Amino acid sequence: MNPGYKKYIPFQPQQIVGRTWPDKVIRKAPMWCSVDLRDGNQALVDPMNLEEKLEYFHTLVDIGIKEIEIGFPSASETEYEICRELIEGGHIPDDVTIQVLVQAREHLIKKTFEAIQGAKNVILHFYNSTSTLQRKVVFHMDTDGITKIATDAADLIYEMSQPLIDAGMNLRFEYSPESFMGTEMDYAVEICQAVLERLHATPDNKVILNLPTTVENCMPNQFADMLEYFCKKIPGRDSAIISLHPHNDRGCGVATAEMGLLAGADRVEATLFGNGERTGNVDIVTLAMNMWTQGVDPELDFSNINKVREMYERCTKMPVGDRQPYVGKLVFTAFSGSHQDAINKGSQYMKESGSDFWEIPYLPIDPADVGREYEPVIRINSQSGKGGSAYIMEHSFGYDLPKAMHPDFGAVVQKETDAVGKEISPDRIFELFQQEYVNATQPYQLLRHAFNESLDAQGHSHVEFWGTIQHTDTIFQVSGQGNGPIDAFFNAIKDEKMSHFTFLDYASHAVTDGSDSQGVAYILLEDQRDGRRYWGVGLSHNINLAPLRAILSAINRSKRK
Ligand code: KIV
Ligand code: ZN
Repeated sequence: MNPGYKKYIPFQPQQIVGRTWPDKVIRKAPMWCSVDLRDGNQALVDPMNLEEKLEYFHTLVDIGIKEIEIGFPSASETEYEICRELIEGGHIPDDVTIQVLVQAREHLIKKTFEAIQGAKNVILHFYNSTSTLQRKVVFHMDTDGITKIATDAADLIYEMSQPLIDAGMNLRFEYSPESFMGTEMDYAVEICQAVLERLHATPDNKVILNLPTTVENCMPNQFADMLEYFCKKIPGRDSAIISLHPHNDRGCGVATAEMGLLAGADRVEATLFGNGERTGNVDIVTLAMNMWTQGVDPELDFSNINKVREMYERCTKMPVGDRQPYVGKLVFTAFSGSHQDAINKGSQYMKESGSDFWEIPYLPIDPADVGREYEPVIRINSQSGKGGSAYIMEHSFGYDLPKAMHPDFGAVVQKETDAVGKEISPDRIFELFQQEYVNATQPYQLLRHAFNESLDAQGHSHVEFWGTIQHTDTIFQVSGQGNGPIDAFFNAIKDEKMSHFTFLDYASHAVTDGSDSQGVAYILLEDQRDGRRYWGVGLSHNINLAPLRAILSAINRSKRK
């Protein structure tokens, strides 16, 4: 047994009496703040250049994010320049607020005030670390010393902001007790209360209290308990906007944010696809789309998720995982045959019932909602069942195979996947379908034909058929009569060594390929000599010819066997 785990100190949960958050439900979008250009950017191997940051910024605006942390302008000349370009270059829409981060240190705060000159809407975000661990190993300070860092900074910020506010800037404040999750809750309340007072927070002039999960150190329910405790205890709760900033060290960032909202938070700081320090920040796309699937409008637009992803991967040089919720390449794909069948049945049900609701098993969201397509939903490999291939034929190529034909075609595809030992593409499935069933002309081929159709006094149809058929090198004439074209043709060929076939099933529909519409007919025949059944498919622009070709295809297939 490896005793390495013994070196970890278990998290001590906050005691809370009468918690209410588990009974709550998220019913509206929080205020969103993107920290992609700061927390996300600082965690990149190659931080973004000016051009990339601008493109990223505009994408965030297009998505509908109204508060965007653009950087840490006092940290470096590059960060300062980017801030200036955003302001001077007129990139910031009037309804978007830029947020700038600064440590609670005098010279950095002063530099930050220089950086924001001329901006219309600004959140000045300052922070210092408050956790027991940081106090012990980094700052070597007691809580009074840590509080003084925060309140000195708050005093300076308040004083320096007045002339800008008087001159018309919409300047607001945000304070983060960094490493909040490792801070004693009563002390977190105390320091935040002191900051609210120094910043003269009121219900009309709220200050954002951002309570970061700087390093995720506990289960999301334990975090929610801390947050509910904090919200209940903080005096002047109505003078504060409570903000979350979850990192994802335990892989629970999304759950922490969701439960934090239940526990009383109003706002979430997050990044696209969860980029950020170490395991990242919480993913804004997952959070927003999770709300969407619960019938809650997240007030963000991810209707073209591939475009957002393409920009993200290009600018950050970070890949988005294939299984990343809502955006990963494979998230609308079902490999399992039973899943494919259920998806198939679900979409059939949606079509037939005209339901207003999304009710498809294994697809928690309509891929179209994020600009994805049904086409790649099903991929066929040796694990796929009969329904999957039929689904591809319908959704990728417009062929609605009769239900009874699914197992037959499934076996054809299965043989191929077993032989190649890997997934096969929709195009290959289509090719197999054509090779196997469509317009087979060997040994029998219909060269010419004519119909004569008449109606009797009772309205019954009477059809006569004449045709020229080639069988290998022999050409012969056939004729027959019936109550419809198929019946007449079938009767015509019956005498030509084909009398042992009986007609079992027929279906047809139009398939449209661009402007070109063709009829497709599916015919099932049974060979009475041995009871074997054969499907044939006929394709023609002439709606009467398609079934005749299908019949000959079925007969020709029987000869192949
Ligand atoms: O994770 C964190 O605590 C931060 C703060 C600076 C808000 O990024
Ligand atoms: Zn962070």
